[in-house]
Amino acid sequence: MKHGLNTDGVRRVGRGTKTHAVISYPEGTKIVKTFACTILSALILSTTLVAAEPLGTIHVDGGADGVVVSPQMYGLFFEEINHSGDGGLYAELVRNRGLEDTQVPQGMKVENGRLITPNGWRQRFRHDGPMPGWSLAGEGSGSFELDDQRPLNEATPHSLRLKIDSIEDGRVGVANSGYWGMSIKEGEAYDLSLYARCNEDFEGSLVVTLESVSGAVYAEAKIDGLQPQWNKLDCTLKSNATDPKARLVICAPSTGTIWLDMVSLFPQKTWKNRPGGLRPDLAQMLADIQPGFLRFPGGCVVEGITLDNRVKWKETIGPLATRPGHWIRWGYRTTDGLGYHEFLQMAEDFGCPAMFVCNVGMSCQFCEGEEATHDELDAYIQDTLDAIEYALGTVDSTWGAKRAENGHPEPFNLKYVEIGNENFGATYEKHYRPFFEAIKQRYPQITTIACTAPFMRLPLVEDPPFKDPTVPIEIADEHFYVSPDWFMSHADRYDGYDRGGPKVYVGEYACNKGVSNGTFWAALAEAAFMTGMERNADVVRMGSYAPIFINNNDSEWSVDMIGFDSSRSYGRSSYYVQKLFGAHRPDVALPTRVTAGTRQAKTLAGKIGLATWKTQAEFKELSVENDGKVLFAPDFRRGMRRWKAYSGRWVTEDGLLKQLDPGEFRHASAGSTMWKDYTLKMKARKIDGQEGFTIIFCDDDGGSFLLWNIGGWGNTQHGVDRIGGNPHVIPIGQRVPGSIETGRWYDIRIELDGTRVRCYLDGKLIHDIQVDTPASPELFATAGRDRATAQLILKVVNVADHPYPTDVTINGIERLAAEGTALVLHSPDPTAENSLEHPTKIAPATESVTGLGPKFRYTFKPYSMTVLRIDTTNVRKN
Ligand code: AHR
Repeated sequence: MKHGLNTDGVRRVGRGTKTHAVISYPEGTKIVKTFACTILSALILSTTLVAAEPLGTIHVDGGADGVVVSPQMYGLFFEEINHSGDGGLYAELVRNRGLEDTQVPQGMKVENGRLITPNGWRQRFRHDGPMPGWSLAGEGSGSFELDDQRPLNEATPHSLRLKIDSIEDGRVGVANSGYWGMSIKEGEAYDLSLYARCNEDFEGSLVVTLESVSGAVYAEAKIDGLQPQWNKLDCTLKSNATDPKARLVICAPSTGTIWLDMVSLFPQKTWKNRPGGLRPDLAQMLADIQPGFLRFPGGCVVEGITLDNRVKWKETIGPLATRPGHWIRWGYRTTDGLGYHEFLQMAEDFGCPAMFVCNVGMSCQFCEGEEATHDELDAYIQDTLDAIEYALGTVDSTWGAKRAENGHPEPFNLKYVEIGNENFGATYEKHYRPFFEAIKQRYPQITTIACTAPFMRLPLVEDPPFKDPTVPIEIADEHFYVSPDWFMSHADRYDGYDRGGPKVYVGEYACNKGVSNGTFWAALAEAAFMTGMERNADVVRMGSYAPIFINNNDSEWSVDMIGFDSSRSYGRSSYYVQKLFGAHRPDVALPTRVTAGTRQAKTLAGKIGLATWKTQAEFKELSVENDGKVLFAPDFRRGMRRWKAYSGRWVTEDGLLKQLDPGEFRHASAGSTMWKDYTLKMKARKIDGQEGFTIIFCDDDGGSFLLWNIGGWGNTQHGVDRIGGNPHVIPIGQRVPGSIETGRWYDIRIELDGTRVRCYLDGKLIHDIQVDTPASPELFATAGRDRATAQLILKVVNVADHPYPTDVTINGIERLAAEGTALVLHSPDPTAENSLEHPTKIAPATESVTGLGPKFRYTFKPYSMTVLRIDTTNVRKN
């Protein structure tokens, strides 16, 4: 399909090489006169249209030097989360192959289905039985249990013991259901390997089948060679049917006892046919982004819940049976089958450099927050140097030799090391420098990356990661998990960055606040922000969306880029944004100016919360209502369910929620970032301390919220503030004199109506204020030159709900083709999203465009991202 709108307002539509007699015009274009005439193929309708007044202009300085866009600009952030690796990208079909899934991590305990760290941080720890994934199969009589006698090796201390009492009524065995079903395809072959041993009186071979849940057999094989000693056995199974929910069954034909461990089943068809490799559809989706780098192994998993729980890369290499695997911060145990070597290999297969994130002697500061001592730190630094040696060292070096032993004598392309993940504060500053110095001294070719605090919102220069300005930073990693409004209103964030300061890696970003599990609106917001990243490519050297994957059966993190189940996968609209930016990365970004209308949210939205400042207080009868409907009415007799305590000592007692820590700003929150137009009510009583209570509302869960401070400023005033902007605290409206008495219950009510906020204390209206929402342009753009194709690439994001006729001027390029290609990602519904059932509801459409040149008018679709590629004949080669 061809369409275009000339500078004279005429839009032409064609198909293939033929120009067609189609009258088609953008919405918002006014028809003045229509008549027919003939061009080229005899019958052509020519339509004289007068376009609606342009709403925007885009000016590209095509003759400028521009700024180099790094080939590493758009990369991948991989972390084991939501079963992204095990049960996802890693093609292993057997779940809990090593029988270690229910082991309690070192130093932690389990109570009532919760894992608890020494200092009381908690996480779910629920399993359906001691051997998740496994069940008894067959009609005969027998039993199975988890056994810790005579283990295969130290790394896998448990095995599955199957006791076959009688086979008179049929077979006895065990079945593995995989990760919510094994996807088996007709005609494809599957490699099974397992370790087994048997007692003396057991005779015969094992019978292995791939079956449906109801017992239809798709493939069968016999395995001989069972002995009283552990022995590795294998076979290949070829399936005669397709079933996304198949299972593996291992049966014994004789009575007796057998033990199984490290039971593994891999499709032979993996991505690039690597044995024990990657699931092809998921790996290909990543390859299609044309990633500039691969960051691994995370994320919070790098830090671990405790220090012992961190990723220990040396335990993730070598034979699978000697990798212990480990419990991860995201609520399950990983096999570490996708280990350090596999990540390096994956980067090589993607054709991009690798980025290793090391532990900096600190566990996750939002979990246990453990820190290595001064004496222990050297071992962490050495561990990182060893990791680099594994990737880059010669085969004569200790770790280079291990790499060769593991099948890769040539060095890998490890280019970046990030020193820690989301670490911040004084300890990070203390630990970072010796890591930096050791790495740079030994491997000057490695580019190091420093973390910034995950809740950092201010530009680097205003909120530097280190107090000491002499601490060297090559690249700083900024993370943004924020709302659409934030992304859109900060698309100019890097325009004013210090060109002499550290470069930036936007290491984790996703629009995940107020967008449920992700919407096209979120994707557009990311696209808007990315135009700012690309335009400022001299500062922003790299970026990676996070997290990438979600197995739809395990959603630990609700907004992700690619969803899948055992057999199907789809990219959210955010995936297509990443793909469009990745595949259409220019070599040089050109100065691009946009004029357009302004958009501003008409409603306030966000979670609610409670806080105190140097005060202990208690709360009861809290409710959130919208239009007479109760959204939230917690029963504090049942604890703090659905609350998140950030700081303080929050306890529930006698139906009251109490905050008992006398420190500054002790804070907990609850609810949804989608809540709007609500009434928040509660009763509050001060127990002791210097001030009153602080009620939080419109919390975007990304560090920005409104608060009503009642009895603040030394218990002298009430006032509403916005937190998390720039400056960090912005008073809204007038503060009024007032104080809070100890021991007295107060009635508190906050009413939100669009952007109006009314705050009542004991039924009396204290504040009636209008709150400004962030304003942002309706149109965002970035343009650049592509050396290989000599094309000008223009990316434009229209976040308005209507078409956007825009006058585009491209200066400094004499010969711009009149025809080009547009890739348009658009949906009339910004709340729409792709799904397993409708995987490409929102996907880019390719269109041919005519009427281009140094000046042209183009109408961008409502809610759209458009990539225009225009041939030039004298594009500069820099
Ligand atoms: O992407 C998910 C998590 O978000 C990462 O593990 C962490 O670095 C961030 O907090």
